[in-house]
Amino acid sequence: RGSSSNSRGALVVLEGLDRCGKTTQSSRLTQYLEGLGHSVELWRFPDRTTSVGQMISSYLSNESQLDDHTVHLLFSANRWEKRSLMETKLKGGTTLILDRYSYSGVAFSCAKGLDLEWCKAPEVGLPAPDLVLYLEISPEMAAERGGYGSERYERIDFQNKVIKSYQVLLGSNWQIVDACRPMEVIEKELQETVLDCVKKCQNGAPLSHLWS
Ligand code: TMP
Repeated sequence: RGSSSNSRGALVVLEGLDRCGKTTQSSRLTQYLEGLGHSVELWRFPDRTTSVGQMISSYLSNESQLDDHTVHLLFSANRWEKRSLMETKLKGGTTLILDRYSYSGVAFSCAKGLDLEWCKAPEVGLPAPDLVLYLEISPEMAAERGGYGSERYERIDFQNKVIKSYQVLLGSNWQIVDACRPMEVIEKELQETVLDCVKKCQNGAPLSHLWS
């Protein structure tokens, strides 16, 4: 597949508030690309399977307490420990669909009151996504979807702050997707956008690094 010698997989990120539908959409998107014969993998951050990821997981479920800065750096470390594999996969032609990435890292920590530039710094040098799909939904509507669980950040007042910090991060490779519509409608829209992106990367669009 792909005609250019610089052909590579695409790095596609799904972002949004808790319960915006990201997880469902990212797995459907992965299945769709697989069905077309593309090499594709679905990853999620935090990756709770590593030892860093286990510390994050116990923090999120309120089983442990950590300083806000410390947990921010753990989330970032959890991406850095996957960086080399991420780049290998992309260069090898595999498209990666990421359920959350550095934008979640910055948006959630800033919503706690941490400084924006401080939050962005540890992410510098990670592979930059070719496309960020932001699934837009109000916290009230998200909360109605089966209700929030017991995880640390699942509160409406906090999610409203997260929205504000996402807005600061919005860049030219972002697509805002109205996530209040039926699942199938959203799915179709994402398919078209992502397929375009995958083709660009097959044709050798260079991979850049954060924060670009
Ligand atoms: P999840 O529900 O998608 O597994 O994400 C767990 C929570 O962690 C979610 O509320 C968003 C938050 N989060 C951060 O605070 N920083 C990060 O870097 C990431 C990836 C997620």
